[in-house]
Amino acid sequence: MQEHKFSAIVLAAGQGKRMKSSLPKVLHPVAGQPMISRIVSAVKAAGADEVRVVVGVGESLVRQVVEPLGAICFKQAEQRGTADAVHSAQPTTLNGTILIINGDHPLIEVGDIHHALEDYFNSRGGITLGVAKLKRPGSLGRVVRDGGAVRAIVEARDASAETLKIREVNTGIYVLEAELLNQMLPLIRGPGAAPSAPDNAQGEFYLTDIITLAGENKIPVSGVRLPSHVAMGVNSQEELATASRRLFYRNAKKLMAEGVVFIDPRTTYIEDAVSIGSASVIYPGVYVRGKTRIGSFCVVEPNAYLNSVVLEDSVQVLVGSHLESCVLRSQSVVGPYARVRPETEIGTDARVGNFVELKKVKLGAGAKANHLTYLGDAEIGENTNIGCGTITCNYAVDRQKYKTTIGRDVFVGSDTQFVAPVTIGDGAIVGSGSTITKDVPAKALAVARSKQVNIENYSPKKKRE
Ligand code: UD1
Ligand code: MG
Repeated sequence: MQEHKFSAIVLAAGQGKRMKSSLPKVLHPVAGQPMISRIVSAVKAAGADEVRVVVGVGESLVRQVVEPLGAICFKQAEQRGTADAVHSAQPTTLNGTILIINGDHPLIEVGDIHHALEDYFNSRGGITLGVAKLKRPGSLGRVVRDGGAVRAIVEARDASAETLKIREVNTGIYVLEAELLNQMLPLIRGPGAAPSAPDNAQGEFYLTDIITLAGENKIPVSGVRLPSHVAMGVNSQEELATASRRLFYRNAKKLMAEGVVFIDPRTTYIEDAVSIGSASVIYPGVYVRGKTRIGSFCVVEPNAYLNSVVLEDSVQVLVGSHLESCVLRSQSVVGPYARVRPETEIGTDARVGNFVELKKVKLGAGAKANHLTYLGDAEIGENTNIGCGTITCNYAVDRQKYKTTIGRDVFVGSDTQFVAPVTIGDGAIVGSGSTITKDVPAKALAVARSKQVNIENYSPKKKRE
C-alpha cells in the first residue's frame, strides 16, 4: 500500500460488563495475547505515526501492556460511551487523518486496516466506515442505507425488528480528518439531550451518531466492506473463546501451507510467534507458546506443552511432556510425561524418559536419563547413563543451590543420590543405591551404601512351613 500518514485512536476504556470478569475486557488474552496488544500492534504495523489508547477501567494494567508497544494512554474518567472515549483522546491536539478503532476486535489484521485507509484516501474526504456483512449480525450496530448511501448506524439494542434484519454491521473502524472529527464530536449528544439526538438504550454518547450527523451535514460516508473476521467483536467469554479458536486455526493454516503436518488442526493451539519447520508432525492437544522454534521432521505428540522452547530438527516430544525455556538438540527424544524446566539443554541424540524432571541441566550428546529422575543444576557428559530414580540433591540447608558435574561415559546405577557440590570423573561407575557425597575419580567404581547383612533362619517358624 502507498504510505499515508495517519494517527490512531484505540478505544479500550470499557469494563466489558458482559465478560462478567474483574479483568478489564481488553486484557483478556486471545490465543495467548491480550486483545489490546493485538490491536495496537496491528495499527502500528499498518504505519500509524501515533497511537492513542483510551484507558479507563483497569487503567494502570492496560498502560503496562500498551505503553511498551509505543502507545500513548489517555484517560476517560467515566465510561460514557464511545464518542466520549474518542473525546478523551484529545483529538483537538491531532492533525491530519485519524483512524478510530475499537479495542475489542482481536481478529483484525494489518491488511484490513490498510484496506480501510486505501478506501479513505481513494474516496477523498468525508468518512470511511468499515462494514461487514454477517449471517448472524447479533448485537452489532446495523448499517442503515438509503439508496446505497450509508445513512446511520443503529445499535441492536435500539433497533426495530425490521432494522435487526439488516445483515450489514459496523466493525468499529472509522477514518476521517481530525478537523472533521473535532467539528462533529461536540454535536453528539446523550439520550434525549436534543431533539436531533436519537434516544439510545444505554444512556451513552455513541460515536456511531457521527454517521447520522454526517448525513445531515452532507458529508459523504463510504462504507468499505471488510472481511467478516474484522467484525468479530469480543463482548462475552463465549466470543472470547471463539476468537481464540479462530486465531489458533489461522496459525495452524499458515503452518500447514508451509508443509507442517497437523493430525487435527482444530484441537491444536499454536501461538502467533511460533515457527515450525516443514514435515514436522503436530498431534492433537498440543499447546505451543511464546517464541518457540520447532525445526523440521520433529514430532510433538498429544498433550505436550511447549513454552519458549527450541527444538532442532528431528526431535521427538512424546505424550504429555511439559517444556519451558529449554533447547533440545537434533535427534533427541523427550517423554512421555517428562518435565524440562528453564536453562536446560538436551544434547544431540540424548534421551529423557518418563517422569524425569530437569532444571538448569546440560545433558550431553547421546546421554540418557530414561526413568523417574530429578536432575537440577547439573552438567552431564556425553553418553553417560543416568539410572532410574537418580536424584541430584542440589538444594542445601543454607538455601543455596549447588552443582553436580558428571563426566562422559559414566554409568550411574539406579536409585542414586548426588549430594551437591560433587564431581564424577569420566568413565566412572556408581553402584545402585549409592548416596554420593564425595567426588569420584575418573574410571573409579563408587559404592556408597551400607553392606548387606543376611541373618540366617530369621523369619518365624510358622511362616517358613
Ligand atoms: C460498538 C458500536 C457498534 C459496533 C460494535 C463493533 C457504538 C455505540 N457501538 O458496540 O455499532 O457494531 O462496537 O464491535 O459505538 N469504550 C470506551 N469507553 C466507553 C465505552 C466503550 O473506551 O465509554 C470502548 C470499549 O472498551 C470497547 C469499544 O469502546 O473496546 C467498543 O465498546 P463496546 O461497549 O464493546 O461497544 P459495542 O456494544 O460492542
Ligand atoms: Mg464491543
